[in-house]
Amino acid sequence: MHTAEAATLTDDDVAAWGRDGFLVVPGAFSAEACAALVERAAEHVAAAGQAPVSVFSTQEQQRTSDEWFLGSGGAIRCFFEEEAFTDEGALAVPLEQAINKVGHAQHDLDPVYDAFARDPVMARTAAALGVADARLVQSMHIFKQPRIGGEVTCHQDATFLSTEPPSVVGLWVALEDATLDNGCLWAQPGGHRGPLRRRFVRAGTSDGDGTRFVDLDPTPLPAPGPDGGLVPLEVAAGTLIALHGLLPHWSGPNRSDRSRQAYTLHVVDGSAEWPADAWLQRPADLPFRGF
Ligand code: FE2
Repeated sequence: MHTAEAATLTDDDVAAWGRDGFLVVPGAFSAEACAALVERAAEHVAAAGQAPVSVFSTQEQQRTSDEWFLGSGGAIRCFFEEEAFTDEGALAVPLEQAINKVGHAQHDLDPVYDAFARDPVMARTAAALGVADARLVQSMHIFKQPRIGGEVTCHQDATFLSTEPPSVVGLWVALEDATLDNGCLWAQPGGHRGPLRRRFVRAGTSDGDGTRFVDLDPTPLPAPGPDGGLVPLEVAAGTLIALHGLLPHWSGPNRSDRSRQAYTLHVVDGSAEWPADAWLQRPADLPFRGF
């Protein structure tokens, strides 16, 4: 166990990481630091709400959403919840409750996120867990909105952020209490020793740069929840959960009246190769940086 001041990993913590593929660090961030990030995210959402809402054909919508997503590796962009719209395409909930996440480069473009992502506890944790020369590749501020916060299906983070050799570690911070009711994380203890099932890459077709999955191993991912041997990680705000890139994890929908905001920083080792077909690419003037 840790205190808020220390949050320094012990040998037992490192052993648990090797055994389980995840590590829970309570008290890593103060209530004030969490509140500052919640507030900053709301400002990004409010700014996004000033952009005109357009209606696209299905095909046009697919192309536009691909571009919005694929360009976000070097930007700060808002992504909507699937259940935020009516069948006619109008917002079904207030804007501030309609956003699924803000991503993916705010740790390099926004001073509030920069300070949070580069807090010494993040650097210490990444180093203790074996990321020798960390590169901060991806930020996600996840809202898990009340009532409409969607499920995140069981996956391995290395599917989306693969390096050669695999090196990605997720540093997930509860900005609000995460419980069974509001869609906490679930993880498969020891599941990081299984193979990487698939990679998510840029399609690179003549139609443009869509995305696709490349299957690598047919071993099925576990079923969500207890049936698949996953355990719930109910944690208080300020808790840091480190996730091995190969660890299967899942979170259910949020049908409660409370949001479950979290911030995830993904780091990779600078000595590993970043693939040319990775969905996440940075513009030349915004290379990945360390802590
Ligand atoms: Fe994940």
